[in-house]
Amino acid sequence: EKAGHRHFMMKEIAEQPTVIGNVIEAHVAPDHARVDMGLPGVDFAQVNRVSIVACGTAYYAALVAKYWFERIAGLPAEVDIASEFRYRDPILPPGTLAIFVSQSGETADTLAALRYAKGKAAKVVSLVNSPESSIARESDIAVPIHAGVEVSVASTKAFTCMLTTFLTMTLRAAEDRGTMSGEEIAATIADLRSLPGLVSHALSADAAIHAVAAQLAKARDVLFLGRGQMFPLALEGALKLKEISYIHAEGYPSGELKHGPIALVDRDTPVVVLAPHDRLFDKTVSNMQEVMARGGKVLLIADNRAIAEVGNDVWTSIAMPDAPEILQPILYAVPAQLLAYHTAIAKGTDVDQPRNLAKSVTVE
Ligand code: F6R
Repeated sequence: EKAGHRHFMMKEIAEQPTVIGNVIEAHVAPDHARVDMGLPGVDFAQVNRVSIVACGTAYYAALVAKYWFERIAGLPAEVDIASEFRYRDPILPPGTLAIFVSQSGETADTLAALRYAKGKAAKVVSLVNSPESSIARESDIAVPIHAGVEVSVASTKAFTCMLTTFLTMTLRAAEDRGTMSGEEIAATIADLRSLPGLVSHALSADAAIHAVAAQLAKARDVLFLGRGQMFPLALEGALKLKEISYIHAEGYPSGELKHGPIALVDRDTPVVVLAPHDRLFDKTVSNMQEVMARGGKVLLIADNRAIAEVGNDVWTSIAMPDAPEILQPILYAVPAQLLAYHTAIAKGTDVDQPRNLAKSVTVE
């Protein structure tokens, strides 16, 4: 049942090239020139704002989607944690498309938030892994994320399938709103179709990550830093680590470091920096230098170009394949998952069934 793996978590991490490929196949037209994902009655040109609501890892997927909706489709996007949204009297102005994201489709707070939005939002769309779930049934449109059954309590493949689904949805929004030309959309779809191969390549960092996990397992605290669309990946990396290894971890936007968390940095605090050579790379490098100047141990996860520039200065680095910028949040989920996985094994915790957690949170 674990397909030769020791844990469901590793099986599910390893399935990602396949299930991401399934998402792309399901949501892209056969000619690979357009998105075709079944959003009946949704014309993003008529949408003024998207409001995305979720919990936990699904919330972090939504945070990445915010960057994409704004940058690619020129569409204002708001993201809320479901337990905050439902008790906050949120305002959904006319033309708001409300999106609820949930692997299980049964998360109590997300479901309650959906019920609040019904009748107030122009349309209620859900991204769900279980098409039979309450959230799927109660939304106007349920978009399946095609991850397949996820057993491990720590969510892995559902996260990357949520992201891939959001990316196709954003391309559809860009098409409706005319913010990308047909050629640009086709080129991005071609990039997207390279994603399963890139994720396979990222999985080959497993041995290198395994090798640093013993060091990480000794830490009391770990910081994760990222900028822009990589910031939510820092949050996700920290959540994965804390939930299965019980090491205290926090994710921060790199630029926030000097506004408080840098006080935590010392020789015993590994700082994981998710920094592909993107448009914000130089800024992140200067944050990394601030960490190193205080004796912090930087674990850099980056592409070859970034590692060639700064790899010699850091404690250790993990190489990711070069990839189109838009795909990087999906790709960098893999080393974040592997880091948590191997650190948990080094600590001897119960990887698939971490203490105090349930797979589906049906009570608030
Ligand atoms: C983290 C994790 C949780 C869930 C959260 C939402 O690994 O699994 O944070 O992401 O409980 O669950 P769903 O997506 O089922 O609504």
